[in-house]
Amino acid sequence: MKNQRNSVTIARLTAFICIQERERSMAASQRKILVTNALPYANGPIHIGHMLGYIQADIWVRFQRMMGHECHFVCADDAHGTPIMLKARELGVSPEDMIAEMNKAHQSDFSDFGVSFDHYHSTHSEENRELASLIYTRLRTNGHITTRVIEQLYDPEREMFLPDRFVKGDCPECGATDQYGDNCDVCGATYSPTDLKNPRSAVSGAVPELRESEHYFFDLPAFGDMLKAWTRSGSLQSEMANKLNEWFEQGLQQWDISRDAPYFGFEIPDAPGKYFYVWLDAPIGYMSSFKAYASQNNIDFDAYWREDSEAEVYHFIGKDIIYFHSLFWPAMLKGAQFRQPTNVWAHGFITVNGTKMSKSKGTFIMARTYLDHLNPEYLRYYFAAKLSSRIDDLDLNLEDFTQRVNSDLVGKVVNIASRCAGFITKKFNGELANDIAEPELLAEFQAVAAVIAESYEQREFGKAMREIMRLADRANEYIAIKEPWQLAKQEGKEAEVQSVCSMGLHLFRILMVYLKPVVPKLAQDAEAFLNDTLSWDSVQSTLTGHRIEKFKALLQRVDSEHVAAMIEDSKQAQPTQGTSASSPSTSGANAPAKALGEPLAPEIGFDDFAKVDLRVALIVNAEHVEGADKLIKLTLDIGEAKPRQVFAGIKSAYTPEDLVGQHTVMVANLKPRKMRFGLSEGMVLAAGPGGKELYILNPHTGATPGMQVK
Ligand code: MSP
Ligand code: ZN
Repeated sequence: MKNQRNSVTIARLTAFICIQERERSMAASQRKILVTNALPYANGPIHIGHMLGYIQADIWVRFQRMMGHECHFVCADDAHGTPIMLKARELGVSPEDMIAEMNKAHQSDFSDFGVSFDHYHSTHSEENRELASLIYTRLRTNGHITTRVIEQLYDPEREMFLPDRFVKGDCPECGATDQYGDNCDVCGATYSPTDLKNPRSAVSGAVPELRESEHYFFDLPAFGDMLKAWTRSGSLQSEMANKLNEWFEQGLQQWDISRDAPYFGFEIPDAPGKYFYVWLDAPIGYMSSFKAYASQNNIDFDAYWREDSEAEVYHFIGKDIIYFHSLFWPAMLKGAQFRQPTNVWAHGFITVNGTKMSKSKGTFIMARTYLDHLNPEYLRYYFAAKLSSRIDDLDLNLEDFTQRVNSDLVGKVVNIASRCAGFITKKFNGELANDIAEPELLAEFQAVAAVIAESYEQREFGKAMREIMRLADRANEYIAIKEPWQLAKQEGKEAEVQSVCSMGLHLFRILMVYLKPVVPKLAQDAEAFLNDTLSWDSVQSTLTGHRIEKFKALLQRVDSEHVAAMIEDSKQAQPTQGTSASSPSTSGANAPAKALGEPLAPEIGFDDFAKVDLRVALIVNAEHVEGADKLIKLTLDIGEAKPRQVFAGIKSAYTPEDLVGQHTVMVANLKPRKMRFGLSEGMVLAAGPGGKELYILNPHTGATPGMQVK
């Protein structure tokens, strides 16, 4: 490939040989790397907060692959535990069906964001059952498991022990009502659920009682010295090391790893009715996902996990789960004679427009809602530009996001290609010049490859992006000074036009190599345009005398209308009483639930139900709403003097033409709601899983507008 596209001068041949040499020496130092990102819970959809970690890990993985290393990237759904069991119960489906459905939804979100997992598994899998049993039995054989009877709150109605978050009552410190069993939202006190005043089961409302039960414990304190050594051995993030030292000072505690039936999880070997606590088998999911992948792809699992493995293993996680990953997990691995992770890298939390993601502000944005409105590469770039190796929180300020992406990616990078490509196509039949107009400028671009690579390696993505944008500024300066559009008007300057524009494209190509881990789709489109495959080594070669393809717009500017529409859609997501704070519903107010996993709303009496006034409505008009991807504006006749205007999120299933003249059922006494597009004066009823399969309700044919539906 390389010798074909370069003119074969002696100099070039030498360069080519150098590259071959480097590739050889690189192969010699090829690293074996396994990367994981924390496993998302299977009881809710992915939101953009989650996406930070997955995008961070993916950029790092793509960079390692570009460097020629063997880098595997696996993940899975975290499918066990009480919240998942209860949610499936509420929905009247089996937990197995619910988690299978969620697994599909998660995978499609990740893949649409360009997250390049090699394998995506579930902790509710045979591989995980076997590995969890193996690890547990080794821990027991090695004397690290003890049992002890403990007292715990029990729901006599549901016949189950209650996890802390499933007991509610009055705060023992400040008296605030309706507080969870572990801490108070009002005064911040932490306590145990037995301290709550007026405790109630959040599952049934029954008064819980104290009951005894035998629990299994993992002897974490026995691993204190090992953990301290592990902490010092690697290059832990300083915040992580500080946290660990705090925990060491407080003293390590025995860890309760069992839960009583009923529980959705794995039964503990030789302990009928006792199950592994979800956090025991969750990190083992990293191993079991890799195991499933390894056995399908002829990869040596043990080479990565045996005690003396020389492979590298990295876990990307959020800051809320450091304890599990830096204490329990390495200790469990040690106690079961497996290697410990090379490092655990934590990132901070996402805020949107400066505050915690909020449903009412429309900033609790689901991954899917984002994808419905915006290009995923915008977010990948924005996160990259703001990420460092530290555990700082990261603010997604939507104005800054719009401005930054437009000015950097579109205005600086893609702009270089769009300014140069036209001349090459029109005047030179797509052929790049045979010479390099500015060898020094080229060398300057090439020389920073190592600096940028090091920034990627260290997860200093923001630093890498700044360096790349500095180069992009240099390239734009060069073009602005040369003004090829002026040269093109002058007699006898053809060769110069070709040379200057080719130079611009050589620089553009180098920038795209540097950006490839962050914006893989843009890089792929650039490859098609340049008629070239971009590897890290491409930086050291040039496309002199090479034919490029016709330029097509590579990236649209972020349209703030689309951002606003995304926020509007997110506002419509219904608040839920979900069991995990990070798993709100995906459904819009006018659209039924898309996926399983919608918890039931609190029970209502007949009186409440009778308040809903359902009327037969004739759809007299239906039209598209400019700037809204999901909405159709309906004009509904319910026999009143003035027809109602209703915005319904049914565009995925209906065209306006399908609807006009049909009857449907509407909630006629819903308080009108001001939307970005106008006032919505009611809601139409629809059913179905969502997307194309969404059916507005058709009353029987004898229905007349305004007729009450009972
Ligand atoms: N299931 C556990 C992890 C088990 S790993 C063996 C879990 N799941 S989660 O769905 O709650 O979170 C998945 C990942 O997303 C975690 O790394 C978590 O820290 C991260 N985030 C969740 N909300 C986040 C933000 N708002 N911002 C950034 N990351 C966030 O924890
Ligand atoms: Zn309180």
